[in-house]
Amino acid sequence: MKIAVVQNSPLFGEKEKNINDLLKMMESTEAELYILPEMSYSGYQLVSKEEAAALADKAGSDNIMRFAEWSKAHGSAVILGFPEAAEDGKIYNSSVFITPEGEKHIYRKSHLFYKEKIFYAPGNTGFFVKEWHGVRIGQAICFDWYFSESFRTLALLGADLIAHCTNIVMPYFQRAAFARAIENKVYIATSNRIGTEERDGEKLTYTGESVIVDPLGNYLVDAPSDKTGVFTAEIDTKLSRNKKLNDFNDVLGDRRTIFYK
Ligand code: ACM
Repeated sequence: MKIAVVQNSPLFGEKEKNINDLLKMMESTEAELYILPEMSYSGYQLVSKEEAAALADKAGSDNIMRFAEWSKAHGSAVILGFPEAAEDGKIYNSSVFITPEGEKHIYRKSHLFYKEKIFYAPGNTGFFVKEWHGVRIGQAICFDWYFSESFRTLALLGADLIAHCTNIVMPYFQRAAFARAIENKVYIATSNRIGTEERDGEKLTYTGESVIVDPLGNYLVDAPSDKTGVFTAEIDTKLSRNKKLNDFNDVLGDRRTIFYK
């Protein structure tokens, strides 16, 4: 399967313009699955809970439907991060996996980062894996990576590929992706944004460098830190389904769970 990470530079709150830009970027490069950043079309840096509520969209909103219609028209799936106004009245930091067949799978971020703890409810979906066109896909959002249990859980659930929507502000993940990929023998596709936001006197700089790493730790994509773009790679489930390291070791089968907390 040919997959793409889409690295953009959204303007805070300018949802319509940001969606137009994302769709134009996706239009420029063909792929079967597009993975977009966390908060891909809303901007990230909130200053209040009220602002989170004003910016949030329902999964069936016109904004999400624009991606669903694009997906159907192009026969490609799209996974994107967005601030979700949920049926339970809470606002979540979510990603939605949209298929051209009309499915929508919502994952809500399990590990909230920094001031997200003020603005969003902690995710309540937990981790899950969905198979699409022969590839088992798990969703994660940004800071989830810091907790190795997140990606390990997705690997144990059978993920071939972890679709990791991010707005990374710390310098670590692009290198840590190597470890997460080899320890689980999974593909990791991390889409990150670039640019800065400065609100209420606090400046956040997003690090770009979106990556696609294969189950052997090879970087199939290592995007620049300062340019937007759509970056693609082919993934092969034969690699992600072989958990053997050699004739004696299996990275999931050799776990000594009796010794783990
Ligand atoms: C992050 O979780 N957006 C750093």
